[in-house]
Amino acid sequence: MKILAIETSFDDTSIAIMENHNVISMKTYSQVKEHTQDGGVIPEKASRLHSKNIFSLIALALKDANVKFKELDSIAVTKGPGLVNTLQIGITVAKTLSQILNIPLYGINHMTAHIYSSFINRPIEEIPSKSLVLLVSGGHTILAQLKDMKVSILGETLDDAIGEAFDKVGKLLDLKYPGGPEIDKIYNKFTGKMHEVPVTNLENYDFSFSGIKSYIANKRQTIDHDSLAAGFQRSVIEQLMMKVKKAIKFRDYDKLIIGGGVASNSLLKSELGKLNISIISPKGIYAVDNAAMIGYTAYYLISKNMIKEESLTLDAISNLKVGK
Ligand code: KG4
Ligand code: ZN
Repeated sequence: MKILAIETSFDDTSIAIMENHNVISMKTYSQVKEHTQDGGVIPEKASRLHSKNIFSLIALALKDANVKFKELDSIAVTKGPGLVNTLQIGITVAKTLSQILNIPLYGINHMTAHIYSSFINRPIEEIPSKSLVLLVSGGHTILAQLKDMKVSILGETLDDAIGEAFDKVGKLLDLKYPGGPEIDKIYNKFTGKMHEVPVTNLENYDFSFSGIKSYIANKRQTIDHDSLAAGFQRSVIEQLMMKVKKAIKFRDYDKLIIGGGVASNSLLKSELGKLNISIISPKGIYAVDNAAMIGYTAYYLISKNMIKEESLTLDAISNLKVGK
């Protein structure tokens, strides 16, 4: 089965051509350069860039895969969560292609796709029947359970996403956008005494990051920025680790699937590595937003008869919950 997959939920325009579970080609345009000057993503600008680039990326991906439009069996597109305006560009292109080519259209949940991104290019049988899941990105912080092909949320952020907190703190400390990788670099280079940033610990499995962000905003005039940045990283990763350890202790998992941009954080990786659990994480280009994870998830759900074809009424759902 050949699937053309489209991802435009945020600031990456990505197109993949899949042959069952394998990626034959993928072309991604990251808008990060265009957004650096604004210190964040302006949805209207992101939408314009998606519109500008999507058609040439489709042409390139097909050429690279040596696949013709008429050889495609279906179209998969991200339907949410994400920015409504940018999602709509991918969805409109997907609907048009599905109509012209007379092939089915599937709407895919971006967060569910992040979960399966670790299995891209591997047969779907390798997806575990039970696993703990940690999704940490610019838009989401979710601790969930994957069991018998169903994803259920254990806890999530009540305010900012962890990546958003990294980016906002980066901005407060005058770092380049996105702040996450910059703060991580500072943490690794920092040799002085880290500022003790308090660790938020909500009662259940939920997270909160906005209090720590305000804390940094209040301290930045008086405390060394590198010491604050390093202390911030230690605090937020500690918050994640407390919940992961609690879930492992009380709910009995031997596997942890991680996904989202913050999963590449060096402290998070080294702390997770100390746990007695096998960590499953996506490789390189599949760790960030990409269309291969959308195509792979579509293939998985189609194979298991767990997804319905979309009609032309398909619309973006900016707050779509994982598992829905
Ligand atoms: O999953 P992703 O590529 O995009 C979505 O948000 O969907 O995640 C991007 C986020 C940004 O907030 C970025 O700052 C963060 O991931 N990030 C990191 C690191 N690398 C990327 N945060 C902390 N440490 C990193 N090494
Ligand atoms: Zn993402």
